[in-house]
Amino acid sequence: MPIRPLWFIANWKMHGSQRRVQDYAYTMNAALSDAPAHVRYVFCPPVIYLAAARQALPQNARLSMGAQDAHAGAEGAFTGDIAAAMLKDSGAEYVILGHSERRQGHRETDAEICEKVASALTAGLTPIVCIGETLQEYEARKTPEALQHQLQLLAPFAAELMIAYEPVWAIGSGKTPRLQEIEVAHTQIKSLLGSATPVLYGGSVKPENSAEILALPTVDGVLVGGASLNADAMRAMLAASLPCE
Ligand code: PGA
Repeated sequence: MPIRPLWFIANWKMHGSQRRVQDYAYTMNAALSDAPAHVRYVFCPPVIYLAAARQALPQNARLSMGAQDAHAGAEGAFTGDIAAAMLKDSGAEYVILGHSERRQGHRETDAEICEKVASALTAGLTPIVCIGETLQEYEARKTPEALQHQLQLLAPFAAELMIAYEPVWAIGSGKTPRLQEIEVAHTQIKSLLGSATPVLYGGSVKPENSAEILALPTVDGVLVGGASLNADAMRAMLAASLPCE
């Protein structure tokens, strides 16, 4: 049986500079050259640095580039927005959609996120769709309902996208759910979308907890925010998650 891919998504959010992004892409790509073939690394810098980072990489790079959002339209009078095809043209192969910072900060709805998924797929990008419960929902034990609600429009695209389960209260807080809670959420997502959809965990992933999270049978990888800015931390996570040779 082929080994399933193990995903590391580095979401730099609104951090970095052209120089820093290029250095990081180069460094992480070199670090990946010894990694087993099933490791996949997707670097998502601020979109303005996407092309520069891609250009710092060799043609046969192990590291892929991703964006942090895309507009749902193909083109038009949308000042400041970027279409999925433009991201593809700038070197992206993946795009994070529906991150809670956009659902909350930009009031993105499930319907809009679904439209973005469709246009990303049309442009040839793989969407990494973020879902997760708020603290209020978590405390009220309403996580399954929250996840089901966010997933309902995505089922038709299940074979072509990836899901990142990111409890909103775990993002940037240093807190994570119990391992068993991650396992329950991932099992629910896979039962709704099918076992072929990769399901990643995100929210305060760091070298101290990545190995135990990645060892869970339903976890196909991690989406890392704050800790991903540090190449040494990511190298430590890569090393800790891989079987000893
Ligand atoms: P964090 O962010 O790793 O800093 O918690 C994760 C994310 O927002 O995707």
